[in-house]
Amino acid sequence: MREPGAGGPPWPGGAAWMDGRYCPIEDARISVLDLGVTRSDCTYDVVHVWQGRFYRLDTHLDRFAASMARLRLDPGQDRAGIEAILHGCVSHAGLRDAFVSMTCTRGRIPPGSRDLRAARSNFYCFAVPFVWISSPEQQETGTRMWISDLTRIPPQSVDPTVKNYHWLDLDLALLDAYDHDADQVVLRDLSGAITEGPGYNVFAHVDGRWLTPGHGTLAGITRRSLIELAREAGQRVDEGCLSADDLLRADEVLVTSTAGGVMPVTVVNGAPVGTGVPGPLTRDLKDRYWARHQDPRYSTPVRYEEPPGGPGRLPGAGGWSVAVQGPGLVLVPGGGGAVGVDDQGPAALVDHHLVVEKTQHYAAGQAGLAAVGQVRDVVDLARAGGLAAAAGPLAAAAAEAGGVADPGRDGAGVADVQRQAGPAQPAPQRAAAQERGQAAGAGQQLGRLADDGLLQRLP
Ligand SMILES: Cc1ncc(COP(=O)(O)O)c(C=O)c1O
Repeated sequence: MREPGAGGPPWPGGAAWMDGRYCPIEDARISVLDLGVTRSDCTYDVVHVWQGRFYRLDTHLDRFAASMARLRLDPGQDRAGIEAILHGCVSHAGLRDAFVSMTCTRGRIPPGSRDLRAARSNFYCFAVPFVWISSPEQQETGTRMWISDLTRIPPQSVDPTVKNYHWLDLDLALLDAYDHDADQVVLRDLSGAITEGPGYNVFAHVDGRWLTPGHGTLAGITRRSLIELAREAGQRVDEGCLSADDLLRADEVLVTSTAGGVMPVTVVNGAPVGTGVPGPLTRDLKDRYWARHQDPRYSTPVRYEEPPGGPGRLPGAGGWSVAVQGPGLVLVPGGGGAVGVDDQGPAALVDHHLVVEKTQHYAAGQAGLAAVGQVRDVVDLARAGGLAAAAGPLAAAAAEAGGVADPGRDGAGVADVQRQAGPAQPAPQRAAAQERGQAAGAGQQLGRLADDGLLQRLP
């Protein structure tokens, strides 16, 4: 695998940022214990890049922040950090047109606990080639929509304005739509009013104006664009109650999504919409939607020059990261993630947010961290940064244990537990110590430290 920055985009299939580092999309993994997986306890957002520019990035970041706040999730990154990671994902994939996703899950709770308050959020992003709900070819003829009998999850139960992965109603309805020779579906609420479909909002042009559901849906950002563009063009748009009957008698129907833009629908429940081809208003709005992507008021150029690494991974770090765990400082090889001890045994990846947070803290104004492979520098910087955490029982225990441990050559574990108190070892000695290794391996050493209560077990 080619490293980022080694000439040309390294991961054209997509790039992800997870556990504090970038990786090819195929390598992006999430724990089966993550509450985002086991309970859909998470929120996400998707922004797109078109011809090298993000579309309405600020609006997506606003919505993502509001969703996280509503779910009491903390991504461990500030807005600028999230933004930099999104740029970094696109830049690592070298994509000009991309689907760029950001997710924050509730993460994992400590073994045996059911207390959600003890969970530590898990934040990750990825960029993959642009995704079309309805391909450009399909858009030429328009798609076929089915009005499902399955009721959309009520907003009183799951707030649809918080973008979420509660998609079973949407997915089952879509499977049902396929059986009715349709490729798209919309669901109704308990009153029978149309809501939305899997990944899109819906509009019908009926009685001389556009009508779109005013509640019970995600406040889609493409929906917002459509409303603005239609009004700019002097067309009336009402946000209110859209009935199945409205959809069936409309002269034009369209759906809106980040994944595809403004997409015409030409058949509803087997019957043609209007003349059965994409209508003139839809075609015009679609053209003006894509033209907006070059307008600097709505788009931001991707920072393709974003340094490889970005937040959470220090440029030229030689693969070293820094973690502060309880009272100790642990230096970790591998360019991302912390190493600690959890229920899966020692040396599993835990607490990466803390790593990211702290490495960013160190990195601020510390260009010298390019030499972070020099363990001593990191310790000094940590001290200079006033990190009291560099002192404490772990550091003392590590010093007693010899200060250095080597998990082996595959880099899967902890390489170095650095004492805080004594002078740092000169590099050759350190290298020699690493070469010698410790029979027990760093993972076991950390396990012992944890057993002795010197290293905090993290969730
Ligand atoms: C349920 C739902 N509705 C509507 C949308 C459209 O929102 P946006 O235009 O912001 O992509 C999405 C996007 O994924 C969605 O998941």
